[in-house]
Amino acid sequence: MTTSDVNPDMTALLDYLKQNCGCDLTGNKSSSLTRRFQRRMQQLNIENYKDYLQYIQEHPSECTPLLDTIFINFSGFFRDPNAWDYLANKIIPQIIANKQPDERIRVWSAGCASGQEVYTLVMLLVEALGSEQYLQRVQIFATDIDEDAIAQARRGSYSHLEIAGISSEALSKYFEQTEQGYVFRSKLRRPIVFGRHDLAVNAPMSKIDLLVCRNVLIYLKRETQASIFVRFHFALTDEGFLFLGKAESLTNERQIFTPVSLKHSIFAKGQNLTLKDYLLIKPRIRNKAEVDPLTTQILIWQAAFLASPFAQVAVARNSRLLVANQQAYALFGLKNVDLGARLQDLEIGRLVNSIAFMRQLDSSRHPISLKNVQWVSELDTTYLDIHITPILYPSGKLLGANLTFIDVTECISLADDVERLNSNLAKVTVELQETKKILYNTIAELESTQKELESLNQEIEFRSHG
Ligand SMILES: C[S@@+](CC[C@H](N)C(=O)[O-])C[C@H]1O[C@@H](n2cnc3c(N)ncnc32)[C@H](O)[C@@H]1O
Repeated sequence: MTTSDVNPDMTALLDYLKQNCGCDLTGNKSSSLTRRFQRRMQQLNIENYKDYLQYIQEHPSECTPLLDTIFINFSGFFRDPNAWDYLANKIIPQIIANKQPDERIRVWSAGCASGQEVYTLVMLLVEALGSEQYLQRVQIFATDIDEDAIAQARRGSYSHLEIAGISSEALSKYFEQTEQGYVFRSKLRRPIVFGRHDLAVNAPMSKIDLLVCRNVLIYLKRETQASIFVRFHFALTDEGFLFLGKAESLTNERQIFTPVSLKHSIFAKGQNLTLKDYLLIKPRIRNKAEVDPLTTQILIWQAAFLASPFAQVAVARNSRLLVANQQAYALFGLKNVDLGARLQDLEIGRLVNSIAFMRQLDSSRHPISLKNVQWVSELDTTYLDIHITPILYPSGKLLGANLTFIDVTECISLADDVERLNSNLAKVTVELQETKKILYNTIAELESTQKELESLNQEIEFRSHG
């Protein structure tokens, strides 16, 4: 929404929400926004936007019920069952077939509301892979602009009414019954990372195999949708799929997506992105007023951590594993289920005594370096330099630690080779000196023999003349 095509009082209200509630609604359809604002104003008996702005300024907590009215969080398990059937029977098997047996599968539920969509995905993935493979290989991002919805999704708790569409068999397999209703099994929730994410503003995820964004884009303007489709194209792997809502169509001039099933709103990547496509995102990123510096900083830190050529893990103060990069996953055979585990219960715990180093960091706050730590595994022996850096709150209190593992096995074996060569060289030098000594003695002996012979010759000559 450009601020010119709406009532100036509404523009002032939108500006206020953007600056003070951290919520940018300028990409939303103005017709939908008008309806939602009117509804909330009616509930408060307020007649116009000007008075409503004044009310929000005087009652800052009003942001919460207003945003609750604007973000329609309605969701359901297996919403549009035919489309989910198609996904289960045709798309998920294809995603699995495109992967190596132990390769990761990354899924993003964008605009997941209170979580029913993401748990529907989990059920289908467990059915397709089995729970063990699911826990080992799948990583799911569940995001929404609405913090309250995310908190609800994270809890995974639903009333009897909300679980009505789930078969009794699936219910007992995937949920635990509580006094209030049903909770999605916590073990199966482990591969899910929940977070607030505004599709129109924040940087997209990457290397996603299945991106589910249903019933979100209908509330957004065409140009906002276009910029989000570019982000989605960027987010997906070349073989990835995009699953939209029933009422949502993909309107892009250049066919950056091609339909796999129009009936079920499932798409694959089409043409590559051009500079013009990227520019649909860039103006919002470049515009200083709209950039959230903290988000940018966090994204850069995250990218730097993940892209590091060395294995790295971050550990909380209670020695539990918080995050690991791909190199660490590969080096220590980590699995998603290990996130949250105590370091001493993992392979890494054989290398470092997490309790001792945390105590040391707590008292000194200085980084710790461990050199040439020997790690004997079933396959071979590896040597690692381990750098442990404290992570501190701004107040200086210890929050956790970052551990970097540098494989120095090759350096060690080169150093061994050099040492072996040096000792051989020393041996050869000693032998050479001894040989030299023998040679000198032999020469001396030869010289004295020669002298003896000469004097013998002289004696013989003397006698023969005499
Ligand atoms: C109707 S719900 C859809 C829930 C679920 N995807 C489904 O189909 O059942 C729409 C969700 O989109 C979220 N949403 C709206 N605008 C968004 C944005 N710009 N970025 C991320 N999420 C957004 C809302 O907070 C809401 O939870």
